Order: sequence, then structure tokens, then C-alpha cells
Amino acid sequence: MIEVQNVTKVFPGHGKGASPVIALKNITMTLHEGEFVSVVGASGCGKTTLLHMIAGFVPPTSGLISLDERPILGPGVERVVVFQQPTLYPWLSVRKNIALGLRLRSRRKIPWDTVDEYVRRIGLVGFENHLPHQLSGGMQQRVAIARALIMNPKILLMDEPFGALDAQTRSEMQEFLLDLWQSIRCTVLFVTHDVEEAVLLGDRVVVMSPRPGRVKEDVPIDIHRPRTWDTQLSPEFLRYKREILSHIRHDVLPPSPVDQPI
Ligand SMILES: Nc1ncnc2c1ncn2[C@@H]1O[C@H](COP(=O)(O)OP(=O)(O)OP(=O)(O)O)[C@@H](O)[C@H]1O
Ligand SMILES: [Mg+2]
Repeated sequence: MIEVQNVTKVFPGHGKGASPVIALKNITMTLHEGEFVSVVGASGCGKTTLLHMIAGFVPPTSGLISLDERPILGPGVERVVVFQQPTLYPWLSVRKNIALGLRLRSRRKIPWDTVDEYVRRIGLVGFENHLPHQLSGGMQQRVAIARALIMNPKILLMDEPFGALDAQTRSEMQEFLLDLWQSIRCTVLFVTHDVEEAVLLGDRVVVMSPRPGRVKEDVPIDIHRPRTWDTQLSPEFLRYKREILSHIRHDVLPPSPVDQPI
């Protein structure tokens, strides 16, 4: 459904004489309909740049990105983004924040029943008239996810959405997203630093490597669904985790003597 074909992104260097940054080089990947794809890789390998290009925020320097065979030339309502920070409007209630996307998209009356259905789905019944500062970080991020999903997007783009949360809340949010996605099944591109999170959530884990950013591996995660937190305790989960960590480790650290053949 989303095709990224031979995409390169070069940013001009900042300052006099600075050389350009090749953020991504010759990236090719396909996101199939209804697929949950995790993207991991060392800092600076171009994960956010890739996500922003699919969102239509920035154009590729060369190559093509298309959705259902039409080139992506800018942002569109069928592609919504959830960032690391929830970016809610501080003066609007939970209900009004969730409704905001619909309000921006059309002038028609807000379907408040649908908004309330999302309030229920994200477990915030009783908090619908609270302001963002009256919610915990996890609750705020659930509002941001509801605000994205109420647009009924074809693809949900998430850039380290749980990266700012503590470990316990993060684990709760992973289960929350697994449950929600089980019923919605839209296509998801999920960028994370956390290999366990990538394996737990993804149908596939795309491993990127830095300088310049490339796709290094594309690992299908053949673990049955529904998955829950204790999926992480299974031997097959640990196998995937070890495989993916070994791909990333070599990008961050020089190989240790034990990794080298004798
Ligand atoms: N607007 C920009 N101008 C210049 N260089 C940029 C710009 N955006 C990103 N870059 C560079 O492109 C490379 C990839 O950056 P990007 O933010 O996509 O990496 P990332 O994988 O998301 O990293 P992190 O894991 O730290 O979020 C980096 O070297 C970065 O400095
Ligand atoms: Mg990033």
C-alpha cells in the first residue's frame, strides 16, 4: 500500500563550508495494508526522516514514495502522526481534543457519539471534561492516539510515542495499543529505540543502520496474536530480540573480541 522506492534524503549542511548530511540512502520498502511495522536503529539513522517523508512533511531528494500507487506530495488525512510528546491543546478538554481532527477536516457537525466511543476505548470515561494538565503522561498519549484514529486513517505513523513514559506506563501503553490495534487493524509504522517494544508490537521489524541511513534487515516476527506483556517471556521472543540486538550492536559498538571468529 505504501511503497518507498529507492529514496534518498540529503539535508544541506548548516553553516559555511559544512558538508551535506545524507540522512537516508537508497531506501526501498513496502508497507502492506493492515500491517504493523516497527522500525529500530541507532540514533541518527534516519527513522524520523523516513516517517516525516511518508507523512508528507518533507519531500525525498530522489526516489518516490507512493500510497495506493499515487505519489505522496504532502500531508493528507489518510496519514496521521503520533509524536513522542502528545501535543494536545492545553485549553481544550479531552473530548474537544479528540474531536479536533474532525473539526479541522470538515465543517460538518461533530459526531459526539463517535468521540465518546473513543473516550471509552481509551479508558478515559469520567475524564472527558478534564484538561490535559489534569492527566498523566500515559493518559495524554492515549488522547493523542484517539485524536489520530478518529480520523479513520489508512496509516498511523508513530515516532517513539512511548519514549517519554516511565517503564510501567510504557508497558501498559504497549498492551493498550495491542488491544486497540487488534480491533482497528490499520497499517502502522512504529518507530522506537526499544527492541523489545518493536518485537512485541510488530509483524515485522525493519532494522536501519546509520551514516548513511539504510535498511539493514527486515525481520518478520512470527509470534501469534493476540500478544500480551508475557509474550516477552517466551523463548521465541528472546530469539528475535537477540537477533535484532545483534544487528544493531555492530552499528553502535565495534565488535567485541567474543563476537569475532577465532
Ligand atoms: N532538518 C534537518 N536538517 C539537517 N539535518 C537533519 C535534519 N533532520 C535530520 N537531519 C539529520 O539526518 C540524520 C537522520 O536524522 P533523524 O532525526 O531522521 O534520525 P533518527 O533515526 O530519527 O534519530 P533518533 O533515534 O535520535 O530520533 C541525522 O544525521 C540528522 O542530524
Ligand atoms: Mg527520531
